[in-house]
Amino acid sequence: MKILIASPIFEEAIERLREKNDVVLAFNAGTDELKKRISDRDALVFRSGVDINADVMARAPGLRLLVRAGSGCDNVDLDYVQKNGLEIIRIPGPGARAVAELGFSLMLALARQIVVADKLLRSGRWAKHELSGYLLAGKTLAIYGAGNIGSLLGCLGHAWDMDVIGCVKNPSAERAAELLKHGVRLAGADEVLATGDFLSINLPLTDETRNLIDKQAISRMKPGSFLVNLARGGIVDEHALLEALTGGRLAGAGLDVHASEGEGKISPLVGLSNVILTPHIGAMTVDSQRAIGDRIIEIVAQRS
Ligand code: MLT
Repeated sequence: MKILIASPIFEEAIERLREKNDVVLAFNAGTDELKKRISDRDALVFRSGVDINADVMARAPGLRLLVRAGSGCDNVDLDYVQKNGLEIIRIPGPGARAVAELGFSLMLALARQIVVADKLLRSGRWAKHELSGYLLAGKTLAIYGAGNIGSLLGCLGHAWDMDVIGCVKNPSAERAAELLKHGVRLAGADEVLATGDFLSINLPLTDETRNLIDKQAISRMKPGSFLVNLARGGIVDEHALLEALTGGRLAGAGLDVHASEGEGKISPLVGLSNVILTPHIGAMTVDSQRAIGDRIIEIVAQRS
């Protein structure tokens, strides 16, 4: 199969794909570069951070398979995919636990001011008595989007003796029972927004969720709560968040995803010490990336 890999995936998987396929790499490529590289390809493998628009796909008359090496499909023109009968396969499973674990680590780091403590200590400050934090135990973890990732995060919160609630797009008695097995009580979106000591966003970015956590939504969050976003930057209005954090309405935020991502991009929240920023590393564990790589090889082999 002739494959274009448009995002970095597990190195070993690339080598194994090369054994039986013609593989072209184009990492960090813009639309023009992708248009050139895709023209004779049968398959495209990609992650977040690259724009798989109709112009790009239209350049490849033989294109039949798209492999999303992860979960989110907000960077691919799904209308084009559908209209042109292309097969698209997502691999959401292996990264989910990694994203959930990162979310939980952001919650712990925010609650105990770990990043601030580290920074102060490195500068010679012994700020022990300025660095009191909070327990997670006994607090409410509110999961906005208790799907694949959100329910795994719920399990972690439950194991930590948190009171975990979550909302889903299509609630039902079956869904409520499933979530309860993870220690998550199904609740309405309003309750999730308003009662979390920690509010975690775990939704896909769609027209419906873009800017969902805007000034108005933030004003309904529990005063003094923490916001964690592991989903997509476009869901949270960063300027409204900045205002809420500087005004003391919210206690802190942990953001793995940002409105504007990539080399050289600076978040408007960069000046705040109660904010932890990471560069979209949710799924970046060796374990998850190896498993995603194995699955890509399987998918390609089945269709070759
Ligand atoms: C995903 O949607 O799976 C994540 O954004 C991970 C990624 O593609 O880097």
